[in-house]
Amino acid sequence: MTAAPSPEPGRDCPLCPRLHDFIAGWREREPGWFNAPVPTFLPPEGEASVKLLIVGLAPGLRGANRTGRPFTGDYAGDLLYGTMIAHGLARGEFKARPDDGLELVGTAITNAVRCVPPENKPVGAEIATCRTFLKPTIARFPNLRAILTLGSIAHQSTVRALGERVAAIPFRHGGRQEAGGIALFSSYHCSRYNTNTGVLTEEMFVSVFKEIAAFLKS
Ligand code: URA
Repeated sequence: MTAAPSPEPGRDCPLCPRLHDFIAGWREREPGWFNAPVPTFLPPEGEASVKLLIVGLAPGLRGANRTGRPFTGDYAGDLLYGTMIAHGLARGEFKARPDDGLELVGTAITNAVRCVPPENKPVGAEIATCRTFLKPTIARFPNLRAILTLGSIAHQSTVRALGERVAAIPFRHGGRQEAGGIALFSSYHCSRYNTNTGVLTEEMFVSVFKEIAAFLKS
């Protein structure tokens, strides 16, 4: 019998040499940082409670790569967690530290690429390789109903992980599409760049969460 594929890479995952070496360099420069593949953030009620999975792009250098928790320590997290708390998908206070006590509610958060990439830009081979972990991450939640992807890279990798063709389910901000029996919601990434340039406004982001909250209640 073959073992089920693991949803979590090991701390020294060697599968993407460029990312492995980039992290090795930061381990020397900043030994106090997390500097490893960032694990999926789970709710305290466990896997069976997860109805929504949020898929980001990759850890930010001084954000998740420093703190070890997705979207924690950079601007993207302020908008994401604030909006989640407002829609009942997280509880507590987000203080941008992994020990801030913030808890997810019926939701898990992961990244399409688990290791911080140079200049925030994973290459195609790294995105494809890290799908080795995205696929079993999606599969680990027996009651999953919806996925929210943040940005087109997360969207495309998730569509492929669900066994669908990207041409059939293209990225578009807002709205809902079906993929592999899951309701797939997509949003522009909540990065500072996107909000500063007006690609994504807070209102646009909130309206995606309103739709998701209504869907999960239905
Ligand atoms: N932090 C993450 O963990 N993922 C992102 O996509 C951006 C910031």
